[in-house]
Amino acid sequence: MHGAIVSSFKRYLDMSLGEDIWRIVVADAGLTGKTYMPVSIYPDEEMEALLKAAEQATGLRRENLLEDFGEWVIAPLMHLYRAMIPPDADAVSFLVNLQQTHERILKLKDPSAQAPRITVKRCGKGLIEVFYASSRNMGAMIPGAVKGIAGWFHEEVTLLASEPGENGQAHFVFQLKASEVAARQVV
Ligand code: HEM
Repeated sequence: MHGAIVSSFKRYLDMSLGEDIWRIVVADAGLTGKTYMPVSIYPDEEMEALLKAAEQATGLRRENLLEDFGEWVIAPLMHLYRAMIPPDADAVSFLVNLQQTHERILKLKDPSAQAPRITVKRCGKGLIEVFYASSRNMGAMIPGAVKGIAGWFHEEVTLLASEPGENGQAHFVFQLKASEVAARQVV
């Protein structure tokens, strides 16, 4: 797992749940003394152990923790990888190209890295379908991350459907539209 995600997970826990939580989480995960840098790659098993320990320490369910983290992490990632965001992008066009974005970022660090398979298709005005498949079983991040992307582009999002599949796969339908606050500022 890319250090941009693991190190962000620490910052997310520090900022939303207090700095003591991380100490408990790394200890429970059997990783005491480990530090995580955004520029390195870490075994997927460490992220999984940290997630499980964070569930225990916070009392939150995996789905809720990942959804909240997914929303939180978008702003730091967008700042970190700003150069990869086309200047004329909106939420839908950014999301439709998400697979390439993930692959470019991962292959920069490790040509053999396996990006999550996240296929995003337009299926009507402002409507997108998202298909997720990854051995990491972190699809619960998606509703949060799409919300984070909508917020970044001053848009509003509604989750219209979500359906779990086998082996951690998942399918979602979202509606995106310009936020009414942003639209009022343009008038
Ligand atoms: C600028 C925006 C984004 C950047 C830079 C980014 C970057 C990354 C990186 C580096 C990873 C680690 C992958 C690995 O090490 O294997 C990751 C994981 C992930 N990202 Fe993104 N991401 C972005 C936006 C999104 C969005 C919008 C979504 C959802 C629609 C998303 C969903 C996920 C998921 C679910 C994972 C967990 C890995 C997995 O399930 O296999 N990301 N992302």
